[in-house]
Amino acid sequence: MMNENAKTGVTKKTQYVVSNWKMNGTVALLNEAIAIWQKAASHVNWIFCPSATLISYTKTHFPDVILGGQNCSAKTSGAFTGDISADQLVDVGGTYVIVGHSECRQNHHDTNADVAAKAVAAQQAGLIPIICIGESEATYIAGQTLAYLKQQVDESLVSVQGEFLLAYEPIWAIGTGKTATLDDIAGVHSFLREQLPTTPLLYGGSVSADNARAILAVDNVDGVLVGGASLKVADFRTILTSADKNVG
Ligand code: 13P
Repeated sequence: MMNENAKTGVTKKTQYVVSNWKMNGTVALLNEAIAIWQKAASHVNWIFCPSATLISYTKTHFPDVILGGQNCSAKTSGAFTGDISADQLVDVGGTYVIVGHSECRQNHHDTNADVAAKAVAAQQAGLIPIICIGESEATYIAGQTLAYLKQQVDESLVSVQGEFLLAYEPIWAIGTGKTATLDDIAGVHSFLREQLPTTPLLYGGSVSADNARAILAVDNVDGVLVGGASLKVADFRTILTSADKNVG
């Protein structure tokens, strides 16, 4: 049955909106925003990925919110100070976990093999990994994007067999206000779709209240992964509403 809100001329089976709060956000912001966002996201698969410190609190006070971690260890437990295991995320109510975010690839030197190991560990714990890929500006300018992404996909998905989401986040578009063009996004997502016919494909990188609707309407874009704008109550509400209107 068609969603009564479907007024965008675009009809998609599902729309994922993942909010990645990164190392931001407080209990106060959460309390201010969550009920508003939940209402806006009635037909959307909204996955909230706050800092690990906020997951348990969110689960307790807003039990219907679908939660994800921002990273996990490939190990199950042990002497790994500062790390979090997939089992621990499950323990506090996590359903998803982001792995291979470019900030983890850059700051923590996660390789494609590390990302694959984390994704497998997540799945073994019962989490659904959101596996991130994306090229640098130099690779983009050199016209090597698709070859680079192909290698990242091949190597980051080794032994990953169960359910997962794939997020394409061009590094040069993250937090810069420089979004990939709709043609770029369409080209990359159609390329990814050939390799992954049934995997939900998300776009991330400077998604905003102004551009979300157009990005979500692109063929083979099943959702968006949002950083900065997911910390702004009104902007993120608009993004959720844009996604909600597409679901039919
Ligand atoms: P911005 O939306 O702030 O560009 O961040 C994107 C991102 O890295 C989401 O994971």
